[in-house]
Amino acid sequence: MRIGVLTSGGDCPGLNAVIRGAVLKGTAVHGQEFLGIRDGWRGLVEGDVYPLTRHDVRGLSKQGGTVLGTSRTNPFDGPNGGPENIRVTMDRLGMDAVIAIGGEGTLAAAKRLTDAGLNIVGVPKTIDNDLDATDYSFGFDTAVEIATEAIDRLRTTGDSHRRCMVVEVMGRHVGWIALHSGMAAGAHAILMPEQPQSIDQIVEWVESANNRGRAPIVVVSEGFTLDTMETAHSEKGLDAFNRPRLGGIADVLAPIIEERTGIETRATVLGHIQRGGVPSAYDRVLATRLGMAAIDSAVAKQWGTMIALRGTELVHVPFQDALGGLKTVPQDRYDEAAILFG
Ligand code: F6P
Repeated sequence: MRIGVLTSGGDCPGLNAVIRGAVLKGTAVHGQEFLGIRDGWRGLVEGDVYPLTRHDVRGLSKQGGTVLGTSRTNPFDGPNGGPENIRVTMDRLGMDAVIAIGGEGTLAAAKRLTDAGLNIVGVPKTIDNDLDATDYSFGFDTAVEIATEAIDRLRTTGDSHRRCMVVEVMGRHVGWIALHSGMAAGAHAILMPEQPQSIDQIVEWVESANNRGRAPIVVVSEGFTLDTMETAHSEKGLDAFNRPRLGGIADVLAPIIEERTGIETRATVLGHIQRGGVPSAYDRVLATRLGMAAIDSAVAKQWGTMIALRGTELVHVPFQDALGGLKTVPQDRYDEAAILFG
């Protein structure tokens, strides 16, 4: 069996470990051959591939980014897009199946292509940890580590200047990164998309921390909205999927907090730093296991399924299960964290 591997959508620490896990198991156990597909669906649509050998994946699990490249190309677009054209391309390349590593958009496209008869299995990927059907996605742990370290650093400079520090982390629809990094670093307020807040409440938390002699730390997800806002803050136009590019809510909040409290306030937007660099040990292990499990799916011809983590076990679930809904932060997890605010 000759298997193509692609990474699609926003990158994520651990992608290379998935690729390595799949290639090592496939070659060692099943004698499979692999083709690296460049830049996500673009490479599949255009037949832009190269042989991926055991040699090519040496030492890859600790490398950030993706050696295959990624894009947000829609495989249904363009003269060579769509299932019929892709099938012709796969036949020409002798590619029997595809392992698609990606988030919600990638898995939705993979589902449509599988429904049309193509042989695809999926591996879920997102630092936001917002995919339903899997307990944790690789990349999330690394992002939380990076954000926690950044907040720890911001705390010492905040303490020195007696300032309020507002730290913005990623999280388009859900607040998992904010919740975990905020709890780990002892933030005085954690603001997330699932829990719109009033500025009065935020000011109360900031003043309470300040009154106890602490430099207030506010952690905010990029997708957070004040209760007066209709949609998440966006001023950078749209991405390739026509979604608003988020980022900058910390810069909106900081001057309001400063004006309302009289406490000098600074904003820091962590942005793509959270997606770069080496994956944590946890993410390397999870990603490697996912890559190896994707080989099992291909051998069993479980097309239209992705690997999910349930507890510590890996299970095979239909794409549909991952696309049913977002994995939001449950109310009880937020309430638990909020006991420590202020
Ligand atoms: O989907 C993951 C994510 O990290 C979101 O939190 C963020 O909105 C988005 O990617 C930004 O991606 P890019 O700038 O690469 O389009």
